[in-house]
Amino acid sequence: MFVLNDREYKYISRAVYNYAKINLTEQKRPLIVSRLSKRIRELKMGSFAQYVEYLKDDTSGREFELLVDSLSTNFSHFFRESHHFDFLKDEVLEKAGREQLTIWSAAASTGQEVYSIVMTIKEFEEQRGRRINARLFASDISRKVLLAASKGIYQERDVEKVPRPILEKYFLRGTGEKSNLVKVKKELIGKVNFFRLNLNDKTYMLPEMDIIFLRNAIIYFDHDTKVELINRLHNYIKPNGYLILGHSESLSGISDRFELIGKTIYRRIGDD
Ligand SMILES: C[S@@+](CC[C@H](N)C(=O)[O-])C[C@H]1O[C@@H](n2cnc3c(N)ncnc32)[C@H](O)[C@@H]1O
Repeated sequence: MFVLNDREYKYISRAVYNYAKINLTEQKRPLIVSRLSKRIRELKMGSFAQYVEYLKDDTSGREFELLVDSLSTNFSHFFRESHHFDFLKDEVLEKAGREQLTIWSAAASTGQEVYSIVMTIKEFEEQRGRRINARLFASDISRKVLLAASKGIYQERDVEKVPRPILEKYFLRGTGEKSNLVKVKKELIGKVNFFRLNLNDKTYMLPEMDIIFLRNAIIYFDHDTKVELINRLHNYIKPNGYLILGHSESLSGISDRFELIGKTIYRRIGDD
């Protein structure tokens, strides 16, 4: 491992903050050292000083993206916090009419969240014998995770907890040397619009949503960034639409324009 001095740490954490608003606190310093030491070795460099110079010279921004990718947490799994998918089914799909439902997975990572949404809709359609007119969006700041998401290929162990009937209906199993892999069926992948989006951009080219899944992302942002982001997202949620956060996230002290109606499920308060 290479030694990261205070100046280099400040440069890297500042740059990541300016770009993604991800807050690399002092506690994250060992993570920076371990993850970037690997990258420094790959680049056949000998120190953080050299790496910082390389970053400064990288006008394409590619290395910078790799840096943010290597420092952000992309952990996700299918039907994570399953009560949110129960809510989608019981409250939203059950009450849906003919109008189009717009649903956005706003920190989609490698796609498990949005595919869980698609599968919930498919299951509902099959059980109720009616079509849901839904438009699905999935975005992330990282091109790397989006590429993986749009391929829909996962390790067998990633789907261990997916109920067998769901697994058999919506995934294909690899054969031969790919027998440890599964792939989401094309038909489901085709239902999702994947695109790169930095949540901290000032505006988004998106329609108003019925539901935004913003789970396990704002945990990495500081208070002011959360306030700004939630205020912005308010404009992209229909009145009485929903914002769903991750298990350890909350809007308490962040916004009073939403009401808590379930476990980390918020509803945008009427018209204003
Ligand atoms: C832990 S994953 C959450 C995945 C999924 N929502 C879930 O709950 O399982 C967090 C994701 O947020 C993304 N992210 C971090 N900062 C972001 C930003 N400024 N804009 C968009 N996505 C961001 C990361 O790239 C990462 O894929």
